[in-house]
Amino acid sequence: MTELQGKVAIITGGASGMGKAASILFAKEGANVVVADLNVKGGEEVAAQASAGGNACVFQRTDVSLEADVKALVTRAVAEFGGLDIMFNNAGIGGAVGPLEEISVEDWDKTQAVCLRGVFLGIKHSVGAMRARGGGAIVNTASIAGVWGYPMLHAYSAAKAGVVNLTRSAALEFAADGIRVNCIAPGGVATPIVGAIGINKETVEATLARGQPVPRAGQPDDIAYAALYLAGPHAGFVTGHTLVVDGGAVSGPAGTYRRPGDARGAGAQRMRFAGPSFEQG
Ligand SMILES: NC(=O)c1ccc[n+]([C@@H]2O[C@H](COP(=O)([O-])OP(=O)(O)OC[C@H]3O[C@@H](n4cnc5c(N)ncnc54)[C@H](O)[C@@H]3O)[C@@H](O)[C@H]2O)c1
Repeated sequence: MTELQGKVAIITGGASGMGKAASILFAKEGANVVVADLNVKGGEEVAAQASAGGNACVFQRTDVSLEADVKALVTRAVAEFGGLDIMFNNAGIGGAVGPLEEISVEDWDKTQAVCLRGVFLGIKHSVGAMRARGGGAIVNTASIAGVWGYPMLHAYSAAKAGVVNLTRSAALEFAADGIRVNCIAPGGVATPIVGAIGINKETVEATLARGQPVPRAGQPDDIAYAALYLAGPHAGFVTGHTLVVDGGAVSGPAGTYRRPGDARGAGAQRMRFAGPSFEQG
């Protein structure tokens, strides 16, 4: 398939995890990708790997929290490949982790700067180049932590909720320019970031497999394919949307769903129908 034939994409956080998977997938689907990240070694490796499929990809060192870096990133995409069609604002950090009363203002601000300001800057500086092409697609990475609260990730949850709503407000503004703005809310995905927020690296897959009804850890490709859909031609009528990709985690409270091996209906006391309560014995 070549869903993105002739398109130019920027992918932030492209050196690792979901951004790496998306860089390789988007290039395979025909795009020229500018891989953007703080991680120079990882980013250069991903750009080389993505280019191996035949579509040129380049790396640009970028700190998404810095306006000058994001501006330079868009300039590079236009200079290198002639324009910009897709902006995947995906870079993120776990940020301040722990009890709310112990979070310093500095750590709070650093979390917002990367996870929320980075997305704002990515939108701000990409829409001009997209307008010049007659339209484009912006995909932001939020989190299920931005859809519901998440314990001990206050700053991150607040930032990701900000991403969800910034996606909506931007969608309202830019639809008239042919620019769609959507976000993805991943659940637990086996990438290096989950180690950084305290999950033991050796047990990541097993730990994440228990976190939602689908009994496996999310994988970077689960998110890359969601991004491909939102960035691609089949999502032309989709904007302002939060695509939750979480194996069912936010579909209902933990502990209420069947696990592999559980009998169907276990816990429902073999009840078949619940009528008016006054008729019940
Ligand atoms: N893995 C999960 O379970 C999960 C769940 C929900 C949301 N997310 C979000 O998904 C996105 C991708 O994360 P991932 O899981 O692939 O983790 P990851 O750590 O593998 O990738 C994140 C990338 O962002 C880069 N980055 C961090 N700060 C940056 C900055 N200031 N400027 C530029 N690049 C920067 C890192 O170097 C890294 O390459 C993040 O926004 C994260 O918050 C992850």
